[in-house]
Amino acid sequence: MRIGHGYDLHRLEPRPPHGSGRAFVLGGIHFDHPAGPVAHSDGDALLHAVTDAILGALGQPDIGQLFPDQNPANEGVDSSRFLHEAARRMRDAGYAIGNVDCTVICEEPKISPRREEIAANIARILGCQPSAINVKGKTHERVDAVGEGRAIEVHASALLTLMK
Ligand code: CDP
Ligand code: ZN
Repeated sequence: MRIGHGYDLHRLEPRPPHGSGRAFVLGGIHFDHPAGPVAHSDGDALLHAVTDAILGALGQPDIGQLFPDQNPANEGVDSSRFLHEAARRMRDAGYAIGNVDCTVICEEPKISPRREEIAANIARILGCQPSAINVKGKTHERVDAVGEGRAIEVHASALLTLMK
């Protein structure tokens, strides 16, 4: 078995012309929310954290090394592409998902009503059982940038198991 940890944070801003926020997409699921991530890609902090957890477990370069911000090809790109690549590298190395656990930190939107939908989508991208993926929400108690709704933060842990 191998364990990995991933972390990501994106600034949240209103959408143009009032800010530079993109549509609010988390785990590949769209949320109706007045602010969105500022990012070179689509800014999906959950998919980024899970991607880094898997790459970390493999001991491979992180998401920013594999998909540099400076590359115009990654402008506005659907982050499921990054996670697909991490899953491909995982299978190439002979590993499968044991389980993944994620904590999304933001005041709004609330994650719990949609956690199964998000988990199912991550499982679909990874090609594993939805029961292997867990997603939960947590507030930042209204303090600091995350608590003031100016950023979203995600932590993810991934356990990989060697395939027979
Ligand atoms: O009560 P405690 O301070 O431990 O947690 P909280 O940050 O106040 O969040 C309470 C509950 O709200 C969490 O356990 C989640 O179930 C839910 N929550 C959520 O679904 N989405 C968020 N963005 C924040 C919290
Ligand atoms: Zn990110």
